[in-house]
Amino acid sequence: MDLELTPAQRAVQQLARDFAEGRVAPLAREMDEQGQMPLTLVREMGALGLLGGPLPPEYGGGGWDPLSLALCYEELGRADSSVRGFMTVHTSLVAQCLVAWGTPEQRLAHLPRLARGEWVGCYALTEPNAGSDAASLETAAVEDGDGYCLSGEKIWITNGGIAQLGILFATRDRAARHRGVCAFLVEMDTPGLRREKMPGRELGHRASDHAHLRLADVRLPATALLGAAGEGFKVAMSALDRGRLGVAAGAVGVAQACLEASVAFAQGRRQFGRRIGDFEMVQAALADMAADVDAARWLVYRAAWLQGQGRPATRETSEAKLFATEAAVRAASQAVLLHGGRGYSNEYPVERYYRDIKGLQIYEGTSHIQRIVIARELIGKEAPPG
Ligand code: CAA
Repeated sequence: MDLELTPAQRAVQQLARDFAEGRVAPLAREMDEQGQMPLTLVREMGALGLLGGPLPPEYGGGGWDPLSLALCYEELGRADSSVRGFMTVHTSLVAQCLVAWGTPEQRLAHLPRLARGEWVGCYALTEPNAGSDAASLETAAVEDGDGYCLSGEKIWITNGGIAQLGILFATRDRAARHRGVCAFLVEMDTPGLRREKMPGRELGHRASDHAHLRLADVRLPATALLGAAGEGFKVAMSALDRGRLGVAAGAVGVAQACLEASVAFAQGRRQFGRRIGDFEMVQAALADMAADVDAARWLVYRAAWLQGQGRPATRETSEAKLFATEAAVRAASQAVLLHGGRGYSNEYPVERYYRDIKGLQIYEGTSHIQRIVIARELIGKEAPPG
């Protein structure tokens, strides 16, 4: 593993940084207050080549390696978690999943417009009774002539209200658990599919679009299957390996933003006749934060590098997501404390980092789930009783 970024990786990092600092950061507070991100940002990300970055050039992509994509997510996450979250779902959970599992016809039909940002993608796995236990999903896929008929509910679907295309998971046999799951490519205006905004005001990530999908006899042709029938759980889990890397990289961005804000505040704020950064307790907080940021970043780089080599990286990706999100939670908590009363107000961005980071610790597999994935690779999965 080369510890230096290549010129191509640096170019992606700079492109994403310029966009994040120039276009996203100035809007972050307003987006948080209004509870949405402007769709013009999606088109801009498409035109800049961010949304299609990791896709093959024949589909309008930039052919980035996973480390370049992680660098992009880190820069976006440093500015705004809702925008980074939008892209992780659109690009990693949907477009890259289509590259991995789609037929040539499915790829050609959808990838170019996802790369341009003309269409938005969403990934619909979670249900009211199937969150962490994804294999227990209840949305039914009944064979119907030469196609399928889907009925059920999906919740917390990021981009669900604005997407034109979804990867939706349903079961043709609940008793078979994960072996019954099928993945479908669904155009979101298909008759029978209704979407509503999730109720309630969220703690963070307020500019993200989170939808409740209701499916009543949604008829799909057999060509809508993504992967083989019964292979949907593997489609879902392999997509999450890529998505979790995106969340981990975004968490590094949040932690980095907390560190930068805290350093600036510790240098500028004076109490007891000195900069507060001259007090050892503040120095300790900053030093721990810096060590956490570096450790999290290197775990993300390692997982990205392994993914780029085509080597198994499920455990390393879960380690990156677990450590980076937990480290960013610590960093955000310390950053708010260090800012004192100012950190408690939305006049300063650390308050938003503190609210947003909780979401990263939960979605795409909670910290508990990441620990399960890691531990199972260490000791194996417990055999079923009997
Ligand atoms: N890649 C490919 N295949 C995988 C895999 C991976 N990373 N992980 C597991 N599999 C395969 C296994 O090999 C196994 O296949 P075989 O039977 O052929 O051996 C099959 O999948 C079942 O695996 P498990 O027995 O480990 O399955 P499980 O039911 O015990 O569940 C789990 C494992 C890790 C707990 C999983 O359910 C999980 O990740 N849960 C969390 C779900 C999650 O992250 N939800 C987030 C949804 S998306 C979101 O949050 C944001 C949004 O808006 C889109």
